[in-house]
Amino acid sequence: MSYKKILVISDLHIPYHHKDSLKFLTEINKEYKPDFVINIGDCLDFHAISMHDHNPDLFSAGHELKEAKKYIKELENLFPKVIEVDSNHSSLVYRRALKYGMSREFLKDYGEFLGTKKWKWVDDLTLILSNKQKCFFTHGRSSDILKVSQTMGMSAVQGHYHTKFLISWWANPDNLFFAMNVGCLIDQKNMAFSYAKNFRTRFILGCGIILDGIPRLLPMVLDSKNNWIGKIV
Ligand SMILES: [Fe+2]
Repeated sequence: MSYKKILVISDLHIPYHHKDSLKFLTEINKEYKPDFVINIGDCLDFHAISMHDHNPDLFSAGHELKEAKKYIKELENLFPKVIEVDSNHSSLVYRRALKYGMSREFLKDYGEFLGTKKWKWVDDLTLILSNKQKCFFTHGRSSDILKVSQTMGMSAVQGHYHTKFLISWWANPDNLFFAMNVGCLIDQKNMAFSYAKNFRTRFILGCGIILDGIPRLLPMVLDSKNNWIGKIV
């Protein structure tokens, strides 16, 4: 099956996502009515169980999951069917368990502990687009997505690099390919991202859509008070 309107979301880092990101995605859904939704990773932040120091002024692990599940429910109401690509943050439960010698057999699947019914988790995904071209979706293979695309010999999309929001094109004698970074939907001011406090660059909020094989970036533009401007540009 090939899809005509593929919505690509990345790096919400729930519950530390931007407060307007669900509103933004609701409008995108109304405007474009995607027939396939893929979330290419870091849907959850799991700050409390990350390999870095836990900020004691943020949620505990249990509380963070409880908070996250509220938003996951909202997101599931908006997008009942989603393919979730595995990533460094969302997989923290399993990485932590592995570190301490816990068999995978003891652990619940993502869908079970998050309570989603039709979301499916995969490592990476290759789709055939409606123009018959192949596209590779991954969380974050290289800071240069063009290289990923050229290595794979097909178009490629990734997230992970919160400040990257771009589309590059390349071609060989047979085909034209694209390489896209879709940014993130994080609230950079949140303490969970204090590591980025002194960055001179700013995270770029938005998502990507592929319409009949052609990629497009949809920025979530913020005003000076850090609120979404409320319209798709
Ligand atoms: Fe991320």
